Amino acid sequence: MVKNIALIRGDCASPEIVAEAVKVLDRIAEKYNHTFNYTEVDMGGAAIDKYGDPLPQHELDKCLASDSVLMGSIGGPKWEGLPGEKRAEKGLLRLRAGMKLFSNNRPAKIWPQLAAASPLKESIVEKGIDFIIVRELIGGVYFGNHETHVLENGEKQAVDSMPYSEHEIERIGRVGFETAMKRNKKLCCVDKANVLDTSRLWREVLRRLHAEYPEVEYSEMFVDNAAMQICKNPSQFDVIVTENMFGDILSDEASEITGSIGMIPSSSLGEGTLGLYEPIHGSAPDIMGQDKINPIATILAAGMMLRYSFGMTEEADDIEAAVGKVLDKGIRTPDIMSEGCTLVGCSAMGDAIIAEI
Ligand code: IPM
Ligand code: MG
Repeated sequence: MVKNIALIRGDCASPEIVAEAVKVLDRIAEKYNHTFNYTEVDMGGAAIDKYGDPLPQHELDKCLASDSVLMGSIGGPKWEGLPGEKRAEKGLLRLRAGMKLFSNNRPAKIWPQLAAASPLKESIVEKGIDFIIVRELIGGVYFGNHETHVLENGEKQAVDSMPYSEHEIERIGRVGFETAMKRNKKLCCVDKANVLDTSRLWREVLRRLHAEYPEVEYSEMFVDNAAMQICKNPSQFDVIVTENMFGDILSDEASEITGSIGMIPSSSLGEGTLGLYEPIHGSAPDIMGQDKINPIATILAAGMMLRYSFGMTEEADDIEAAVGKVLDKGIRTPDIMSEGCTLVGCSAMGDAIIAEI
């Protein structure tokens, strides 16, 4: 197969991990006789530096013309003082909206080789951690009105609104139910229905959808309780479906309990197969240029792209198995290092994975 991949190398330490993911993709192309063409796209800090805009239309167009987008994380201290519209993060939000990627899948799965790195007690970890957060990605408070105005008394007031309409909830709810059907058939809607109207509408729409998926065990949980349950009893979850900001917050918590945020990839999809694949961690400005960042999340994100956007199941399995073998051998980047293991840098980790493919 020939596939055109848009590549956003990202900011700070991100280009280091994207380079490793590309090495892995090239190895897959060689082994399975595919051709992967790459188009470089500037987004985030890199685009601000070059064009004064975190996502110019011509860069978004390159993504829309591709078969899928692979990216490292964007942003960093260099761009932090900029006004709202010019922030690096705004480029990412415009990319998600421009590509109509309403569904963000963030798996929280513990690698048995790294179980000791989980901050949770062994008695909790040994029950297993393997769930997915299905996060709504282009609605809610992220895309509502943001404004700061001055009140009559001279005091400033800021307002962020959180709109959700039924069709937005229904399409992500469907992804939640479908994902559950492919897994252990359990779906939990996480919300704040004791306070928010949007959450009450979420429940109404999801209960309606449940009728179409009678095999799925459907439940509802307030987000504050969910935050607690994720660290107290994570094995109870199979699929969580939730709105944009709750999903942002809970997915960081969920990745942390697995031992390393450096291991978790994510996929964002809309109606078709055009997707955006990225690690869930940030751009790690503190270790940039030091060959210390863990490339595994981005390599696994490339694997997810093969699986979900290109239908290359065997190739994706191959990448995941290679990561498993490298972990079995005790090869570790600093973030997942433990006693008795071999410490390597980002690029040596990439090489070790390629050697197993
Ligand atoms: C994420 C990030 C982004 C988000 C930021 C960078 C805008 O935290 O992908 O989780 O909040 O969605
Ligand atoms: Mg986040």
